[in-house]
Amino acid sequence: MSYYKIDSLEQYFKHYNKSIREPRKFWGKIAEENFTWYQQWEKVVDFNMAEADVKWFVDAKVNIVKNAIDRHLARRGNKTAIIFEPNNPDEPALHITYNELHQRVCKMANVLRAQGIAKGDRVCIYLPMIPELAVAVLACARIGAIHSVVFAGFSAAALATRINDSDCKMVVTSDGGFRGNKTIGLKSIVDEALQSCPSVKSVLVAKRTNDEISMHADRDIWLQPLLDEASDNNVAEIMDAEDPLFILYTSGSTGKPKGMVHTTAGYMVYTAYTFKNVFNYEENDIFWCTADIGWITGHSYILYGPLLNGATTVMFEGVPSHPDFSRFWEVIEKHRVTHFYTAPTAIRALAKENIDYIQPYPLKSLKVIGSVGEPINEEAWHWYNDHVGGKRCPLVDTWWQTETGGIMISPLAFITPTKPTYASLPLPGIQPVLMDEKRNEIEGNQVTGSLCIKFPWPAIARTIWGNHQRYKDTYFSTFPGKYFTGDGALRDEVGYYRITGRVDDVVIVSGHNLGTAPIEDAINEHPAVAESAIVGFPHDIKGNALYGYIILKETGESRDRNNLANEINMMISHQIGPIAKLDKIQFVNGLPKTRSGKIMRRILRKIAEGDFSNFGDISTLLNPEIVEEIKDGRI
Ligand code: WT7
Repeated sequence: MSYYKIDSLEQYFKHYNKSIREPRKFWGKIAEENFTWYQQWEKVVDFNMAEADVKWFVDAKVNIVKNAIDRHLARRGNKTAIIFEPNNPDEPALHITYNELHQRVCKMANVLRAQGIAKGDRVCIYLPMIPELAVAVLACARIGAIHSVVFAGFSAAALATRINDSDCKMVVTSDGGFRGNKTIGLKSIVDEALQSCPSVKSVLVAKRTNDEISMHADRDIWLQPLLDEASDNNVAEIMDAEDPLFILYTSGSTGKPKGMVHTTAGYMVYTAYTFKNVFNYEENDIFWCTADIGWITGHSYILYGPLLNGATTVMFEGVPSHPDFSRFWEVIEKHRVTHFYTAPTAIRALAKENIDYIQPYPLKSLKVIGSVGEPINEEAWHWYNDHVGGKRCPLVDTWWQTETGGIMISPLAFITPTKPTYASLPLPGIQPVLMDEKRNEIEGNQVTGSLCIKFPWPAIARTIWGNHQRYKDTYFSTFPGKYFTGDGALRDEVGYYRITGRVDDVVIVSGHNLGTAPIEDAINEHPAVAESAIVGFPHDIKGNALYGYIILKETGESRDRNNLANEINMMISHQIGPIAKLDKIQFVNGLPKTRSGKIMRRILRKIAEGDFSNFGDISTLLNPEIVEEIKDGRI
């Protein structure tokens, strides 16, 4: 019996039970039958949750790119691996076959090695959604270099922090990038960042916009001439199952971003398995995930998951609103897309536009539609189901995180009955539990609590780069021995899960994970600001938006408030990126604080939401009178 593909609901329950009772047999069999290994494992899994130590496929040797590309060449060499759809609809799309991808990745791998990059070195990739991005990621993995992709919307300061945190030796970037009707000067952002990044020895520059840029002698090199000269013969590195594959930064509720480290074999097995089953991908399907490869969704479900299954995956450079709001629908028709995977924030934005943007498109090629990144509200769920899925395509609401590497709770297309706003059931191998405030496990159904996972799964992040203690503290200490997700969830009468949102100081804005503390740090750097507190509040399109309460220093009191608000948003944009800008700013004379000096955010959240009904117990506040004052000044 094979466990790789689930064919019915009954079989799902069978496989699920097997995966819980005998996880070693379950994952061992999947790993053995569906991948090629240089050497088999000694043990399927070895772990100590209290110490946050997890290892899968111990001592096995493997290369993920051999599995994602080379393995398919005999049978699928001429099949399209990647369809590149440019930002400008008038520019022709590219169809890159598995043979061509192999050749391009091998050349790039040889270029990296010739530039002195070896196994274990960190390479920062700061590129727009162009084929070079996919090729650079895969080339790193082929030679065992650890890729750290930084989303090309991040500012120079944010890029520098990430480069320095993991001491990247090289940056791969481009002259610029196209997004809608804007051009972004990526190379000049890299130049600014590198003023404070001593570890970077070289910068490879791809050409995209052909804009004039400055090249620093001894550091910057145009990529294409190197590729033209490079051999396409490349021997892949033999990697240990637990060798790091990549680092990807995610914001924390405090302090600097966390470099989540994913390792090789477990991530490979889990992304391949979840891609196959959640989406029910079949040969000749065309899969389109609209995320950017700068996020985990892009890593796992534009690149690794699809390619490991020999699939055809679409890489889209543009945005849903350019040249108009029909762009997504036009691309689906153009490439006969069968699987469409996007975020609720995009759905809400498109649902708000005139129905004429979507109506002319029959979208008959679609078989499955998916959602990821934040809770999908009932209205958006129905609009997506009716207008995109034609009430015919299963809508898979996939819950997971950067830290989990792959999808954790989700319907399986054509198998699990869907229920609006519910991520539904855990995938095989995933053991969710809900915890109460006293840190006890909540049994039974129709309950809510903090969502934890009590057994390791193959793609769990292994550590935070350079700071295992922080990894342990963040994920394994709130509920000792369990992985704490930071999310709250409800389990309904049949055991379906609905994710209700973050229970910590992380706010999901347009599907982007933002920690409030780093934004406060950025604001507090403004010379007129004394203190600030950021909370999220519900927003029609973004899901959540940011509300800032700001106390000015005496020197700031006389300043024009509008100018100050603009300057503060510019600081945030500069330090983090435009995504973290505040929607509302209220200048206040104080913040509600407990005797121990902790800001009572719960109250600030309620005021931001406009819910003045019940502030709960404010008797522990040092300054309870401030609550009324802030409430009266709400904007
Ligand atoms: C947080 C993780 C995983 C890829 C994209 C985001 C929220 C994610 C869902 C969903 C409700 C969701 C959670 C989670 N989230 N998917 N289907 N329903 N909430 O990755 O940036 O690491 O964010 O996104 O709050 O903890 P991320």
